[in-house]
Amino acid sequence: QHPFRGAVTLDGPSGTGKSSVGRGVAARLGASYLDTGAMYRAATVAVLDAGIDPGDAEAVARTVAAARIEVGTEAGTERVEVDGADVAVRIRSAEVTRAVSAVSAVPAVRRQLVAQQRDLVGAADAVVVEGRDIGTVVLPDATLKVYLTAAPEVRAQRRAGQLGLTEAAQIDDLAADLRRRDQYDSSRADSPLRPAADAVVVDSSELSQQAVVDRIVALAQAALVTG
Ligand code: DC
Repeated sequence: QHPFRGAVTLDGPSGTGKSSVGRGVAARLGASYLDTGAMYRAATVAVLDAGIDPGDAEAVARTVAAARIEVGTEAGTERVEVDGADVAVRIRSAEVTRAVSAVSAVPAVRRQLVAQQRDLVGAADAVVVEGRDIGTVVLPDATLKVYLTAAPEVRAQRRAGQLGLTEAAQIDDLAADLRRRDQYDSSRADSPLRPAADAVVVDSSELSQQAVVDRIVALAQAALVTG
């Protein structure tokens, strides 16, 4: 087997297991790993800390332009900093999760972070990049593009498991919330969530995480051979 060189893009809605799968694939390929969602979340921390209304696009753009957002690219560890402060835990808070959709919909924020993402990718020989618009906008010439999806009910079940929720009504609420967010992400004007024309769609509804990793690693190795 040749060492993998190139970029694998991993896009899709939330709750499909993208992050675990992406880190698993990167580790198996000996590749770097870039979580672009973490960058939008870090930008959101900067906005909240500045006391800016996430709905005020101009102020958001100005604040994010002035912030130094840094993310690590090692598959085994997560490093996320804003102006030198470690925000790896904070970016997963409910407060940030609520505000990040508005921040990531601001075109100037997207332009800034996409430029940074391309720089980080350019510095790596082999990299797995996870997000929403990586195959469509950020890296249109990637070696392999994967669009990972799963039924909303399945994603809700998995999320419920992580949160320790067991009641059917709670799981229904999670599924409804996921459908709303899919709708929002897929219909925004700038870089909507959708599979690239040349993406391989992988539905993880009935696959284990390990099976999804195996599938993508095999696709990446095949893409390398066929060029
Ligand atoms: O994958 P995640 O939940 O960490 O993403 C956080 C938010 O950022 C989510 O609302 C979608 C958005 N996002 C985006 O617009 N573009 C990306 N490339 C990655 C994430």
